[in-house]
Amino acid sequence: MKKGLFSTKSTSQLIAESQDESHGLKRVLSRWALVSLGIGAVIGTGIFVLTGHAAADFAGPAVALSYVLSGLGCLFAGLCYAEYAAAIPIAGSAYTYSYATLGELVAWLIGWDLILEYLFAAATVAVGWSKHFIPFMKDCFGVQLPEQWCRAPLDYIDGHITHTANYVNIPAILLIWAVTWLLVVGIKESASFNNVMVAIKVVIILMIIGLGWGYVNSANLTPFIPENTGEFGKFGWSGVLKGSAVIFFAYIGFDAVSTAAQETKNPQKDMFWGMIGSLAVCAVLFVAVSIVLCGMVNYKELHVDAPVVYALEKVAGDSLKWLRMAVEVAVLAGLSSVILVLLMGQPRVFFSMAKDGLLPPVFAKVHPKYGTPHITTIATGLVCSMLAGFLPLNLLGELVSIGTLMAFSVVCIGIIVLRKTKPDMPRPYRTPWVPLVPLLGAGICVLQACSLPADTWIRLFVWMAIGLVIYFFYGIKHSKLRKEP
Ligand code: ALA
Repeated sequence: MKKGLFSTKSTSQLIAESQDESHGLKRVLSRWALVSLGIGAVIGTGIFVLTGHAAADFAGPAVALSYVLSGLGCLFAGLCYAEYAAAIPIAGSAYTYSYATLGELVAWLIGWDLILEYLFAAATVAVGWSKHFIPFMKDCFGVQLPEQWCRAPLDYIDGHITHTANYVNIPAILLIWAVTWLLVVGIKESASFNNVMVAIKVVIILMIIGLGWGYVNSANLTPFIPENTGEFGKFGWSGVLKGSAVIFFAYIGFDAVSTAAQETKNPQKDMFWGMIGSLAVCAVLFVAVSIVLCGMVNYKELHVDAPVVYALEKVAGDSLKWLRMAVEVAVLAGLSSVILVLLMGQPRVFFSMAKDGLLPPVFAKVHPKYGTPHITTIATGLVCSMLAGFLPLNLLGELVSIGTLMAFSVVCIGIIVLRKTKPDMPRPYRTPWVPLVPLLGAGICVLQACSLPADTWIRLFVWMAIGLVIYFFYGIKHSKLRKEP
């Protein structure tokens, strides 16, 4: 019988695929490398920039509660990811999990959606990196880079795309190419680079918390939840919710750990630690930094490009100048490891989709010496660098968040479906309190997605429609599952 749009891949087939070492990827990652990859992907633009914006515009000092709420949504989704990643340790992550539970069409849509989370997010973060790189070169080395060659020729203002006097964002392009090269030469080399970047950013964040604590003025934290202005999302509890949707971006990336499943020494045991461990470390740091930041200066002042640097300068003047410089270094290191891990995740999702026949087979090629999916890595790097070099990416940030929230919700719902449809599947790790945890995870994610603007939803639908067209022109004809007897 010919298989339909909602045919699922059998879990025994998926488990066999995960154990088949002929896929060519090298199993080199330990538990701690996974935790470090998770932290590497998570700590970036969100904590250093969006915390200030969410506090100033929506939540006030209660942005710490926004971090708790969003962190809980991620924790519940992470517990669902962990069940899948241990049972079906395949590089396709949410795409593969959906294939096992909700069928090929949903899987394709989630795979397509993950492009928003990984590829587009990497491009967005590279543009942010470039913005910090220009002042860094000036402050530290006295080199003034030409602005016209460091910004995109297009901008997005008040809903319109406009031309600027700039040519291309060369630093963002070069950074993405450098990271792509690292990802091609080896997962181990990439993980070592990531470890160094993670060490730098975590140490500097601990310093911000430790030294900033001494400057906290309790008057800045009172009232902790400023009164709502009468408009939904402008302070009060609805502001906490809106703030959580904005800072959700800060948590994006911990799930990218699951795309390294086929390169992990012991995925059944270590996937849980990689995802939940990194999420827990980041959540604690995020809540602490947001309390210290809002305690140092009044939240109303925090809608600036570099809120942490601004607050340190305001409270300590030149006495903490070295820490401000260190924060700049942490931002550059932090953002480069975010890009690294996101650009590691994307090709591995494409790799799994190509293995299933939904993308051309060339995407499933593995380099004979380096053991990395080099063709998809290079293709991903090239597309990502073009997006970062030429397009106005400020319109993409919220699209990245909504895409990720969608993927998390589907993963959560899939766990409930899987318990019903495949109750006997071997599960090295089981999500606790099913269906409560998955329902709470999906509920919090949907709630956050609903508080994003209507424009963002429209863009998501357009993106998904493009995905559907590609599926019906290519995937449906080449799907290996549909060709099976
Ligand atoms: N979580 C990552 C960041 O905040 C994407 O930059």
